[in-house]
Amino acid sequence: MTESDWASVDRLFTDLLHTEDDDLRAAREAGAAAGMPTIEVSPQQAKLLALWVRATKARRVLEIGTLAGYSTIALARAVGADGSVTTLEYQPKHAEVARANLERAGVADRVEVIVGAALDNLPTLTDRGPFDLVFIDADKENNVSYVEWAIRLGAPGTVIIVDNIVRSGRVLHPADGDPQARAVHDMLAMMGTHPRLDTAAIQTVGAKGWDGFAVAIID
Ligand code: SAH
Ligand code: DHB
Ligand code: MG
Repeated sequence: MTESDWASVDRLFTDLLHTEDDDLRAAREAGAAAGMPTIEVSPQQAKLLALWVRATKARRVLEIGTLAGYSTIALARAVGADGSVTTLEYQPKHAEVARANLERAGVADRVEVIVGAALDNLPTLTDRGPFDLVFIDADKENNVSYVEWAIRLGAPGTVIIVDNIVRSGRVLHPADGDPQARAVHDMLAMMGTHPRLDTAAIQTVGAKGWDGFAVAIID
């Protein structure tokens, strides 16, 4: 099977399951129309995030890396009307497009988009915690710090999900000039030895090629 077959199967699943509604589609298209990278989670991945939120009855969700708010909309729908999502985004332009997408989807009232480098803003979030679920999906170079912050801002039972842990296999032998793959490798090594984390690393194929995510629970 080729990468385009993976994408076709993903489209079939999304068609059969009616996974992507008009507001999610519009959010994806608005990001692309604004010239932003089209690296949002796939429709099935967004749904899986939402199902994890629902399965764990998470009410307070933290996201690192908003982009156009595609994953944010899925998380915000899943927390319900009395839940909240705090999402951190470095690029003001991305945050602006995301806010419009969240408005259109009718979930802006339960989402706060905080603009700036995540490592600058994470220390300000202690009063909003503990977060029940944290989705890490920003600059991969800082993943070790992001997981450490997720633990600090979480509590026993908090779920941590990290996107993009495979990157077409580059994580296997991170090249010297590939700090992203190196950082993902180091993050997994850290998660594997952390006394408070219980972690799985899952490979995926689909609309986003060969990639994967880590899922952990804080003990
Ligand atoms: N979660 C989104 C995709 C996020 S893409 C979705 O699935 O829909 C990664 C985002 O992280 C980009 O918008 C990028 O601007 C942002 N980012 C990069 N470095 C960052 C940093 N240091 N702090 C916060 N956000 C950052
Ligand atoms: C990239 C980032 C992502 O978060 C993603 O899901 C896919 C690709 C990237 O920076 O290339
Ligand atoms: Mg990602």
